[in-house]
Amino acid sequence: MSRSERSLLLLLISIAGCGLGLICVARADSARAYNPLARPVAEAVERLYNQVLHATIEDARQRLPHLNDSEAIDKQYFEDLDTTLSNEDYYSTAYYIFAWINSQLMAQQRPDKLLLEVLPGEKTAIRNFFLKVRPPLESYLHRSHQTRPELITNVTRWAGEQQDSVVMSYIEFPRSLQAQLPELQLMDYTKLAKALIEGVATGIWGSL
Ligand SMILES: *[C@@H]1O[C@H](CO)[C@@H](O)[C@H](O)[C@H]1NC(C)=O
Ligand SMILES: *[C@@H]1O[C@H](CO)[C@@H](O)[C@H](O)[C@H]1NC(C)=O
Repeated sequence: MSRSERSLLLLLISIAGCGLGLICVARADSARAYNPLARPVAEAVERLYNQVLHATIEDARQRLPHLNDSEAIDKQYFEDLDTTLSNEDYYSTAYYIFAWINSQLMAQQRPDKLLLEVLPGEKTAIRNFFLKVRPPLESYLHRSHQTRPELITNVTRWAGEQQDSVVMSYIEFPRSLQAQLPELQLMDYTKLAKALIEGVATGIWGSL
């Protein structure tokens, strides 16, 4: 594992708000499973969230062969994605690839060629995500007799955000949502990052 990959992993784990001991994994899963109001909403948010991961990764996959960039993401991760069967493993791999593609943004460095090409479409997809996620969230808050004005204000603002910072808002969204509405916890997108940092996986789920 290279140093930059290791720092990316640590960054992801800090974004997830977890220590290294996998403490954060199981917590709200049960809350969601037994909450008939929350479950379909969490699933809808997850579907919308996953669409962005999917679109960006496919875009990057198609652009990579045309780029001559030694910094570019290891193609192995894309191949692994194709062989991942479980939904959570698939999307935690996708989230990891997504974070890698955006790692210069996360580290506030100059974007590489791949990111420069992918970024405009990615930001559009992210704004669309925030646009589409607002109605189900508002409806859920209404039906569960709760208010989260700061969250809704942020989601509304992000839906129109032109700055690159919207990418970080997206990467951090599962965590901000969970902090506000624990019963809407999404799947564990940092599962692969945690497994890698703990040395459980060697870079690929397939070789576990
Ligand atoms: C890629 O870039 C390196 C360094 O600039 C160069 O030596 C190599 O020939 C390039 N490869 C292709 C396929 O363009
Ligand atoms: C809303 O956005 C602000 C500024 O980015 C941030 O500090 C705050 O934590 C966010 N709150 C929620 C609930 O997302």
